[in-house]
Amino acid sequence: MIVLALALLSQGIAQEADLMLGAKVFAQSCAVGYCHGSAGAANRGPRLAGRGFDRGFVDKVIRDGVPGTAMPGFKTMRPPELNSVIAYVMKISGGGNVSAAPLHVPSPEPPVFAGPPAAQMGKLLFFDAARGTRCGTCHALEDWGVAVGPNVTGRATAGLRQRASANVKSVAVGAARFPALIVDRKNNTVTLYDVAGAPPVLRTFAAAEIRVGEAAGWTHAAVTRTYTDADLASIQAYLEWLAQR
Ligand code: HEC
Repeated sequence: MIVLALALLSQGIAQEADLMLGAKVFAQSCAVGYCHGSAGAANRGPRLAGRGFDRGFVDKVIRDGVPGTAMPGFKTMRPPELNSVIAYVMKISGGGNVSAAPLHVPSPEPPVFAGPPAAQMGKLLFFDAARGTRCGTCHALEDWGVAVGPNVTGRATAGLRQRASANVKSVAVGAARFPALIVDRKNNTVTLYDVAGAPPVLRTFAAAEIRVGEAAGWTHAAVTRTYTDADLASIQAYLEWLAQR
């Protein structure tokens, strides 16, 4: 009896230590930038807290990532960190059993797409993980992608290569100047997406150190380079299909 109680106690302590490590790894690798937010409360990636995930699902998504989205796989992480962050996500999602039961990882369900083939192709292209930068790097649809730019449901892709954005401004901080989309201004700070590169980086500056200038003349040119006109037409079919559903 005592032996059992001690065993349970030490298991509890080990589990607690594991969750602490998991929380640390989560803060460093999953909450940063614009992804899942502090304690999984959601930022630009999907919310994780209170989702009741199944352990096999969490395990697979963290190891392998989600093809076609901004979610990378973390297979290369060392097993203690990997296991602890899985346990932590299980805990904050409120799902399954936190203890490390032997895993049965279900094979992913086949993708079901209810629209016409052109729209389906458009969706694949929108989230195409084989491209360094894809539409889903900056636009979220159907719970995938990262919402840097607006929701583009129903929007046209014709002329997308040339159309200059009115909202991406030229911003100066000290000697640095870069194109940025302002996200928020509060408490004398300015939060913005620095879109000089892709993926864009979420940054916050003191209002006093930043100058927000005119439209920067930013276009999708760098992004659309890897897409043909036919690709953009398929993407438009997808965006129209979403609008009509
Ligand atoms: C590097 C980030 C980034 C990527 C990648 C990106 N976009 Fe955008 N997109 C933006 C930003 C920022 C805006 C908002 C511009 C504004 O508000 O003026 C925008 C706006 C748009 C708009 C609405 C404005 C317009 O000009 O019609 C459409 C449509 C659009 N994007 C489609 C796409 C498609 C399709 C792709 C993939 C081929 C894509 N975007 C990839 C950042 C991106």
